[in-house]
Amino acid sequence: MTKKYILSLDIGTSRVTAHIFDHNGDNVASTTKEISHYSVQPGWFEQDPQEIWEKLISCVTNILILGQIKPAEIASIGITNQRETTILWNKITGNPIHNALMWESRQSEFISNKLIDDGYSNFIHERTGLFIDPYFSATKIVWLLNHDPELGQKLYKGDLLFGTLDSWIVWKLTSGKTHVTDYTNASRTMLFNINTLEWDKDILKLLKIPEKMLPEVHSNSEIYAYTDQDVFFGAKIPIAGIAGDQQAAMIGQLALDKGNISGTYGTGAFIMLNTGQTIKRSEKRLITTIAYGIDGTVSYAVEGSIFVAGSAIQWLKNGLKLINSTSEAGKLAMMSTDNQEMYVVPAFTGLSAPYWDSAAKAASFGMTQETTNYDFIRATLESVAYQTTDVVNLMNSETSININQMMINGEFRVLIISTNSRPIFLTLIYEDHKFRMLMH
Ligand code: G3P
Repeated sequence: MTKKYILSLDIGTSRVTAHIFDHNGDNVASTTKEISHYSVQPGWFEQDPQEIWEKLISCVTNILILGQIKPAEIASIGITNQRETTILWNKITGNPIHNALMWESRQSEFISNKLIDDGYSNFIHERTGLFIDPYFSATKIVWLLNHDPELGQKLYKGDLLFGTLDSWIVWKLTSGKTHVTDYTNASRTMLFNINTLEWDKDILKLLKIPEKMLPEVHSNSEIYAYTDQDVFFGAKIPIAGIAGDQQAAMIGQLALDKGNISGTYGTGAFIMLNTGQTIKRSEKRLITTIAYGIDGTVSYAVEGSIFVAGSAIQWLKNGLKLINSTSEAGKLAMMSTDNQEMYVVPAFTGLSAPYWDSAAKAASFGMTQETTNYDFIRATLESVAYQTTDVVNLMNSETSININQMMINGEFRVLIISTNSRPIFLTLIYEDHKFRMLMH
């Protein structure tokens, strides 16, 4: 049977999506499903790995029906995923030992703080390019291992596996035969040495994490495994691409030259500057991460991870009920007559780049009796712009790399990005499969 299509699986923070692309790169069909979030206490966010798997495979079922595609017509599968989110599962039973701890979850904050207090910041930064923070997988693994005293025994017997969502999905697609990840996801665990491109034995020892529970690390483009016919509609399809979602966006937007910035505005906003084959270290707390590794060459990036972007607009809608839909935020913000008086700091999960203050709390400043809903909406949108400004200005001053292009994408159509002084509004309009920007 002719292999005509590529199946792309996207496991995001809010939803899972399956896309089918043809040889011309045209999107033949897509299906998506929302996934549940559980917040057992403020700042803790979890998801159910089984639900994610079941919804993803049901998206694939729907897309095959919708696109009238036979599984055997799929040439290969690519996977992209929310990064850092941490799952531990029992490889004998196949069951996760706990919900997945999501990337923005802060339950391992005390473990991070202890590492910082014990003076490990430079050591970790030197090896992994990261700053110690509960955002990354390492302290989430430690939290999970210490959460259940009976786990020690299973750990000792080598029955436990760790993975980010890419690993979990490959493991499920192969019925437990393959336990892998890629450079980009590995570089977000705070366990991967970005200089040697291996799991860092000293960090593993420090955190008492056995190496045998970690996946094998591979490049972004190679055949890692084939789907098991029993779980994948009777077909044995090569799984041939894995990348964390922000890095996948960088590749997809062709931000492949040194000096290109790729920025994706979803739940959070992640601004990545391609630094080529050079590892650039930031003094002022931009993280250094792997951009991609393809055909034997690894490229690096510095990244400003902004935890709250689209979620601030969701908060305006669901929490404050100031807007009816996220798409009207830009229009209403333009009705503000506020003269730079009001500011919102949306530190709902602490402050990320470049401050990395996990204890910071959200705040608003500058309200007067004249402050209106429009001012509040505007200040909230502007907060994303100010965070972007902080990150891009730092990239400029710290890397001495000439920033030559900024490529923006993301599910929030109303975006704002910044100039050096006052943010400007940009409305991103999607028409005829192209984005058009309106500047206000
Ligand atoms: O690092 C977290 C990031 O990968 C989440 O991306 O687009 O699902 O919010 P997104």
